[in-house]
Amino acid sequence: MKLLLVGANGTLGQAVANEMKTDAEIISAGRTNADVEVDITSTDSIQAMFETVGEVDALVCTAGAAHFGPVEDMTPEQNLVAVNSKLLGQINLVLLGLDYIRENGSITLITGILMDDPIVKASSSAMANGGVRAFVKSAAIELPKNIRINNVSPTMVIESEEKYGPLFKGFKPREAKDVGLAFKKSILGAQSGQTYEVY
Ligand SMILES: NC(=O)c1ccc[n+]([C@@H]2O[C@H](COP(=O)([O-])OP(=O)(O)OC[C@H]3O[C@@H](n4cnc5c(N)ncnc54)[C@H](OP(=O)(O)O)[C@@H]3O)[C@@H](O)[C@H]2O)c1
Repeated sequence: MKLLLVGANGTLGQAVANEMKTDAEIISAGRTNADVEVDITSTDSIQAMFETVGEVDALVCTAGAAHFGPVEDMTPEQNLVAVNSKLLGQINLVLLGLDYIRENGSITLITGILMDDPIVKASSSAMANGGVRAFVKSAAIELPKNIRINNVSPTMVIESEEKYGPLFKGFKPREAKDVGLAFKKSILGAQSGQTYEVY
């Protein structure tokens, strides 16, 4: 199985790679330090990545940025960070990637708990998460070649506590390994249109 992992160098990307390394040949993708360079905010860059990599059995994305800040201070431009990266970046991976995903292949995208369990300063991230979840649920009923699509929605992981801990007061962090396992379930399982919550 050939697996294209966008965001491979990140905290969650590494967790997915750890769970999948014995089941798949992993091609890492990201803006830096990867087998293939890609910036998911650029459709030209996504297209070039697929032309370089060719056909794959599984497409996974653990990349997607968002601006964190109070709604009353947020500018339209700041909100566009999440629109262009986590929301459209991931959806464009699907739209441009379908030609490169083999029969019976799979797509697994990243969302997050903030769409279900709000905290302050996270509306833009929640917006992108909810959009990706809705797209996954709807696209699942009409993807060609028996391709499946799911998303994994984690809470904050222990490995990211230093970075996000102050925002997630009272949330019980999970291990990144649990998130990696949810991706593994999506890639190697048979379900489609699902949101795997790791809360
Ligand atoms: N960590 C958590 O606790 C947690 C919980 C819930 C949801 N999430 C979500 O999971 C996703 C990943 O989180 P993380 O903590 O693993 O982040 P991370 O450690 O910062 O890793 C992000 C990865 O994505 C790549 N990347 C970032 N922007 C990109 C772009 N425009 N094009 C291509 N690659 C890009 C980065 O590599 P380069 O910089 O080299 O491109 C890096 O490999 C985020 O959307 C986050 O909201 C995380």
